[in-house]
Amino acid sequence: MKTKEKLGFGVIGCGRIAPKHTESIAAIPDAELVAVCDIIPEKAQDFASKYNAQPYLDYQELLKREDIDIVTIATPSGCHAEIGIAAAKAGKHVMVEKPMSMTLQEADLLIKTCREWGVKLGVIHQNRFNQSVKLLRAALEAGRFGKLTHGQASVRWNRNQEYYTQAPWRGTKLQDGGVLMNQSIHNIDLLQWMLGPVDSVYGYTATALRKIEMEDVAGAVLRFKNGAIGLIEAATTIYPKNIEETLNIFGETGSVIIGGIAVNRVEVWEFPESEEEKNRIFGAQENDPPNIYGYGHRGIIEDMIQAVKTDRLPAVPGEEGRKALEIILAIYQCQETGLPVKLG
Ligand SMILES: NC(=O)c1ccc[n+]([C@@H]2O[C@H](COP(=O)([O-])OP(=O)(O)OC[C@H]3O[C@@H](n4cnc5c(N)ncnc54)[C@H](O)[C@@H]3O)[C@@H](O)[C@H]2O)c1
Repeated sequence: MKTKEKLGFGVIGCGRIAPKHTESIAAIPDAELVAVCDIIPEKAQDFASKYNAQPYLDYQELLKREDIDIVTIATPSGCHAEIGIAAAKAGKHVMVEKPMSMTLQEADLLIKTCREWGVKLGVIHQNRFNQSVKLLRAALEAGRFGKLTHGQASVRWNRNQEYYTQAPWRGTKLQDGGVLMNQSIHNIDLLQWMLGPVDSVYGYTATALRKIEMEDVAGAVLRFKNGAIGLIEAATTIYPKNIEETLNIFGETGSVIIGGIAVNRVEVWEFPESEEEKNRIFGAQENDPPNIYGYGHRGIIEDMIQAVKTDRLPAVPGEEGRKALEIILAIYQCQETGLPVKLG
């Protein structure tokens, strides 16, 4: 069957991250935003008016539209799997915000359902599309680090109590998780993408400053199957505001640190004879993004369109999105049992 030139999109959940979806879709020539959905009528109407799309209050109604090829899901995390599964059964390709679900059982059911219904499943880890991260990944794939020794993923951000109280789902076990599951998951995804697969995990979490059910600070150590060690540091307690989201990767013949507000800036780039390359990279950095969401949503949505058109896997398929989720759930398990967790 010939694929349409322009693919129809429905965006489910019209909250804080939704503009990244709608603005990206509006800017992509191969995409058309045909419908939006939110359980709060004003929010659905607001987005609908702005993009000349149809508003829906019930996602099941939106899913009946034949002109929608891809849905993006930007609701609270606890309902990602349920909506994704319904979308797959309606024959829609699914792009789901991180975390793809709150449990591995739900993640597996979502992956299985998408496979059975013959639709693509992409998880939105847009930082994989940062220019800095793409450079790092290319260096890694070219074997330039030699033997990988270790890496660190640090999220040092501030989310004050007002952030958590603005919506009842925030910071809860069933709908959101804490700093690992919400804010740090992108960086954990990158750490495991560079050094994985993971063999075992040990970590601690704490609810230090905010009045929430889950953690606002965490530390963990990973052992990767290739022998490398990974460190995770995650906090939304940083005084008085966001400092950085940083990824460090070290090997026998390479050291790279990507920092900035959201892993957007190459800070260290050391390989043998890399002076000229280093100057080139440092001289052509992307501007800091206006917020920690970065620039990657457009890239990952464009990638999904190409995945559908050419019938290939999207950049971060469900199986790949599941990996960071598994690491985070293992850290939660360590906190409960005091024991390291072997993955897989
Ligand atoms: N990729 C990123 O960098 C990034 C950044 C922020 C948030 N997120 C993720 O996006 C999701 C949403 O986060 P947010 O900050 O936009 O939250 P939000 O609370 O601002 O928005 C969620 C919206 O979903 C609506 N909603 C709830 N249940 C619904 C349902 N059943 N059907 C339709 N709409 C429903 C709510 O009314 C709300 O407007 C979360 O999973 C979060 O982890 C990802």
